[in-house]
Amino acid sequence: LLTLPPVELGFKYFEMFPQEKEPIWTNPCDYYRHKELWPVNKTCDRLPDFIIVGPQKTGTTALYSFLSRHSSLTSNKPSPKNFEELQFFNSNNYYLGLDWYMDFFPQRNKPNSTFLFEKSANYFDNEVVPKRVAALLPRAKIVVILMNPAKRAHSWYHHMRYHNDPTALNTSFYDVITATKDSPSKVKTLQSRCLTPGLYAQHLVRWLDFFPAKQIHIVHSDELKNDPASVMDSLQKFLHVQPHVNYARHLRYDPVKGFYCVVMDNGQTKCLGQSKGRKYPPMDSASEHHLRRYYRKHNTNLSKLLASFNSEVPDWLKQELKELT
Ligand code: A3P
Repeated sequence: LLTLPPVELGFKYFEMFPQEKEPIWTNPCDYYRHKELWPVNKTCDRLPDFIIVGPQKTGTTALYSFLSRHSSLTSNKPSPKNFEELQFFNSNNYYLGLDWYMDFFPQRNKPNSTFLFEKSANYFDNEVVPKRVAALLPRAKIVVILMNPAKRAHSWYHHMRYHNDPTALNTSFYDVITATKDSPSKVKTLQSRCLTPGLYAQHLVRWLDFFPAKQIHIVHSDELKNDPASVMDSLQKFLHVQPHVNYARHLRYDPVKGFYCVVMDNGQTKCLGQSKGRKYPPMDSASEHHLRRYYRKHNTNLSKLLASFNSEVPDWLKQELKELT
């Protein structure tokens, strides 16, 4: 039997159990011995009830801004680094700990007085995120937005061009998505960011390893774009949030923007900024053809998986599957 002073004992422990070096945060109030250690001036209540997990470019900012208009829903305070996105579960922010995360959320006046939420659009396709979210927020509801993955890839590519990413500026979309193992590493990295989040079935299965399907809600991006009021209707029912707001009164189509925007108290519309709903040329047919084949198996798997979420098969997916027969 060996004992050592506390710090040395700590080092010895992690030398013996290196797999435990990686922290996994749980809710201190879920276990009585942790709760006893948790300072009385702290709460375990400053944690989200639901999370919009992405993926990126599917309309996550629009959904976030519509939800923020609801009187019973409160999002996190903006992060100085990532604006509205906290990116806690997917990045080194996780190592900053629970206090860091909870400080972005307000204290609720009384329990259940408001639902807290956050959206970080690259949670969806990150390997470690479902496990970490389930450890800390096992009862949280998860909101996913899906669109044709080929269109998502194209939108991401143009997002990178607008950010003057030299690889995106100097490589055509077709050359990015058809890059091979011999292509320059920067092209392969861009290719991965274009294509990997769109492997929807694969990522959803990972979430299902940690959350029951009834805790996960799928929003279809095309519906969010064309009929946001009905998306907000089903989302409010899924969240069981009161009062039930009729978003048809709060959102109006803006012909200049080409999207629905929030109607402000003075009757004017407030649309998302220039970086959302950008104008760029349509996808070339060679890329369309390539991506249809690339996503074939994944889209077929997605069509089977959607039933477990009580979700209809969206038109884009019906179309993709039809084109392949
Ligand atoms: P594009 O700019 O490529 O058209 P995210 O916020 O997840 O990054 O998604 C951005 C995408 O949201 C935009 O992609 C746009 O198509 C889509 N979108 C959906 N509804 C929107 C809305 N009401 N206003 C602006 N963009 C919206």
